[in-house]
Amino acid sequence: MGKVYYVSKNVGLAILALAATALVTIVALSIAYNNEKAKNLGNHGGEVSDTSTPVPPTIPFIPKEPWDHYRLPTSLIPASYNITLWPELEPNADGVYTFTGRSAVVFRCVRATDLIIIHCHKLNLTSIRGHHAELSGLDGAAVPDVQRTWLVVRTEFLVVQLRGSLTAGASYVLQTEFGGELADDLKGFYRSEYAENGVKKVIATSQMQATYARKAFPCFDEPAMKAIFNVTIIHSRDTTALSNGMQIYTLIDNKPVRVTVFEPTERMSTYLLAFIVTDFSYNYLNQSNLLVRIWAQRKAIERGHGNYALNLTEPILHFYQKYVHVAFPALTDQIALPDFNAGAMENWGLVTYRESALLFDPQLSSTGNKERVSTVISHELAHMWFGNLVTLRWWNDLWLNEGFATYVEYLGVDYAEPSWNVKDHIVLYEMQRAFAVDALASSHPLSRGEEEVNTPAEIDEMFDTISYSKGSAVLRMLSAFLTERVFVVGLSSYLKTFAFSNTDDSDLWDHLQQVGLGIPLSVKDIMSRWTLQMGFPVVTIDTRTGNINQTHFLLDPDSIVERPSRFKYIWYVPVKWMRNGVEQKQYWLLQKTASVDQMRVSGQEWVLANTNVSGFFRVNYDQDNWDRLIDLLSTNHQALPAINRAQIIDDAFNLARAKIISTKLALRTTKYLSKERDYIPWQSALGNLNYFILMFDRTEVFGALQAYLRKQIRPLFKHFQTLTANWTIVPANHDDQYNQINAVKMACRVEVEGCRELIKGWYRQWMENPSHNPIHPNLRSTVYCHGVALGGVEEWDFTWRMCRNATLVSEAMKLRSALACSKTPWLLNRYLEYTLDPTKIRKQDASFTIQEISNNVVGMPLVWNFVRERWTLFFLSLRYGEGMFSFANLISGITKRFSTKFELQELVKFKKDNIRVGFGSATLALEQAIEKTTANIKWVTENKAEVLQWLTEEAT
Ligand SMILES: *[C@@H]1O[C@H](CO)[C@@H](O)[C@H](O)[C@H]1NC(C)=O
Ligand SMILES: *[C@@H]1O[C@H](CO)[C@@H](O)[C@H](O)[C@H]1NC(C)=O
Ligand SMILES: *[C@@H]1O[C@H](CO)[C@@H](O)[C@H](O)[C@H]1NC(C)=O
Ligand SMILES: *[C@@H]1O[C@H](CO)[C@@H](O)[C@H](O)[C@H]1NC(C)=O
Repeated sequence: MGKVYYVSKNVGLAILALAATALVTIVALSIAYNNEKAKNLGNHGGEVSDTSTPVPPTIPFIPKEPWDHYRLPTSLIPASYNITLWPELEPNADGVYTFTGRSAVVFRCVRATDLIIIHCHKLNLTSIRGHHAELSGLDGAAVPDVQRTWLVVRTEFLVVQLRGSLTAGASYVLQTEFGGELADDLKGFYRSEYAENGVKKVIATSQMQATYARKAFPCFDEPAMKAIFNVTIIHSRDTTALSNGMQIYTLIDNKPVRVTVFEPTERMSTYLLAFIVTDFSYNYLNQSNLLVRIWAQRKAIERGHGNYALNLTEPILHFYQKYVHVAFPALTDQIALPDFNAGAMENWGLVTYRESALLFDPQLSSTGNKERVSTVISHELAHMWFGNLVTLRWWNDLWLNEGFATYVEYLGVDYAEPSWNVKDHIVLYEMQRAFAVDALASSHPLSRGEEEVNTPAEIDEMFDTISYSKGSAVLRMLSAFLTERVFVVGLSSYLKTFAFSNTDDSDLWDHLQQVGLGIPLSVKDIMSRWTLQMGFPVVTIDTRTGNINQTHFLLDPDSIVERPSRFKYIWYVPVKWMRNGVEQKQYWLLQKTASVDQMRVSGQEWVLANTNVSGFFRVNYDQDNWDRLIDLLSTNHQALPAINRAQIIDDAFNLARAKIISTKLALRTTKYLSKERDYIPWQSALGNLNYFILMFDRTEVFGALQAYLRKQIRPLFKHFQTLTANWTIVPANHDDQYNQINAVKMACRVEVEGCRELIKGWYRQWMENPSHNPIHPNLRSTVYCHGVALGGVEEWDFTWRMCRNATLVSEAMKLRSALACSKTPWLLNRYLEYTLDPTKIRKQDASFTIQEISNNVVGMPLVWNFVRERWTLFFLSLRYGEGMFSFANLISGITKRFSTKFELQELVKFKKDNIRVGFGSATLALEQAIEKTTANIKWVTENKAEVLQWLTEEAT
């Protein structure tokens, strides 16, 4: 699946603020995401009573029978399926949307058994001769009678009990007929709705990963149960049916329907199936052996919003094909869906996306929107090789699948958009994000034991930041120490060997081992340290002695690690390093401590470790070397690669949070920024400084902080003023476009002279001529926000009108966020009231809007009162309107500035007062908010005076 965070990458501080500080928020966010994913319709027609032992809720369930276990027995192996599905895009007499279907699965018996256990979830099975399914034999195999068939709700199985045994080596066919609800629950075969010219349209579409294929038809729903699928879809004449392959023919009977038959698929996993019925249109590219089609709503295709995706697909496929030397695939359909849960899903030959992840409007979309489209496409296409062709045996190794796609998505985009420098962005968007979560004692290893991952909920939990971001960082490190050349040779051999079958991570290690030369231990030994134990080390180099050591890095030094590691939290660390600007031979730190002569330096010489940030670890030095690095930054920062400058800042701030170095030292790494022009170091710094802003923007420290930041950002603001010929042209360089946003946003925030006037001017111009927006899409989020903040009711009302009239979703989102930037309390309170009125703010946008108001220092206390006053009401809507409100995000949003004893008391009181009502999905977030507030109080107490003094000295 595509990554699950939707915030656009360049909205500035938001994401890195998380990375650097609100670690707990990340956890809360991922929980919120899981809740979102878990949202489901309660009143399902398809539920069938469980005739196996009922489970009393209080007694732990002890599995006794084969169908009590979540995993399939291995006695039966599917070979192929015939599946016919008929979704109805009109509701039935009861107002329910339904589908019906028929399936035949051919399977081979490898071990004699009198039980057939196959997944089946929320389907109504039609009785065939008194049973839920009918069995027949192939090639004259004798067929025992069916004794009984039943459904097991808990483990989502259909069980067929036979009177005799199936014979090992023989093949059989199991047929079923069924119906199900085409619900709008985003799972299995589901429906999505949108309006076209005011007319409601319905799409039937699907999301099978991880465990929802069983909700579309009875199947052996595990990734290793690969099979060939012969799909037929029945649908109305004015729609098109899509699935994983090319249609081979369409029959139009005298009935008012079409029957679309698809070519048999390759041997593949059930989670990669896709079935779609829509009247979308498409644009396409047809080359000798490649057909690419981009499907979307007719209007979007007419306006050319699919063109960028079409332009990208061929080069990216071409790149991967050359990269791994495995040819693939002939057909690539990609479709933008109005309702879609993940960012995107790599179904074989039919990739599904959120609209914002596939469609691009050159007039209205920003550079950030464009980069998002390209990275998501690149990620999904990478899965065609890694995941689809070669599939992990079980979900416990999901990280290899998602981590790999995340790593190479940057390489794919780099090939298609070589001027963008995206390869370096992985440090900001994946590594720093992963560092943040993985530094908590509550983290977990990349790879879990197979026995730890059984239930659908446990499988869902695998789709987290660790799997995606840490996975990519660790693979990037592997590629760096083996060299990219060796890495791809091993990779290619692995893909060729295991095409159309399943593996676990040691299969990859073995293939890399065959080519991997020049490493001190086996690939498997080295990688096990990174995949089987959680966390990562901080490597400390004492350049006075040449001593080097590693320890498990924990953001909270008082936290207790309860998870044991058989490797005792020692890693095999490949340390790439330079001395005085000269790259040295890679050093392998294989023990806790070591002594390296060459790392002992004197005089003005300096050491920098983790060159190009290729390793997944943080670095600390003795004070002298820190001083020399900081000196070097201020005299000649370009002596260090930009990503290392970014990482020095990020390491320092995090080492300070962990009390390994002083906060003052961390702040000193930002002193050179007045000379910095590159995006990546700035982004890293602003993300880290955002915690200071949150902690201090209501205190006397803020004056000094503002003055210091003004001094640092002013030159950058001036730089862009010149580069853009006084704000009239867009910087040519991709990263400069991002950094221009940082410059304007921060300059206006800390009142660099000229900034606010600039924004007011643009806003006035737009208000005078609303049909002609003079603000470039890149700068819109920032300019709208400051425009509203600097204005009064007139600006607010204008923005509100523009928001109501916006036709592009992303434009409406920018305006809606901007409305939360007002500094006028009554406007903010009025806006809060709007969030309860679905005719003003759509339900699905309400909680995010409230959260955005709480991000505003003026709005925060208003939201806090608003939420407390209405908690019972909110809670009811949480219970009944499920999924509309993300309470976890709301609570962590409101409380992210909390840093006083009084606020802590209020929070605790809130918990006590509402304990009877409950907190639903916000329960954990509330606990975390209390914990985080406690930590903030401690941090502010320990650091406030020192920070104030330092800033005051430096600001002048
Ligand atoms: C599906 O089609 C393939 C290829 O034509 C065929 O070998 C297979 O038997 C079919 N599957 C079923 C269940 O009929
Ligand atoms: C699958 O469908 C094909 C084509 O309709 C048919 O020939 C074949 O017998 C079906 N297979 C089974 C096992 O029903
Ligand atoms: C499933 O069967 C039940 C009981 O007959 C019926 O009420 C329900 O509508 C059916 N659901 C669907 C989706 O066909
Ligand atoms: C797609 O490529 C064509 C041909 O190179 C180019 O003219 C067009 O501007 C591109 N479209 C987008 C949205 O990048």
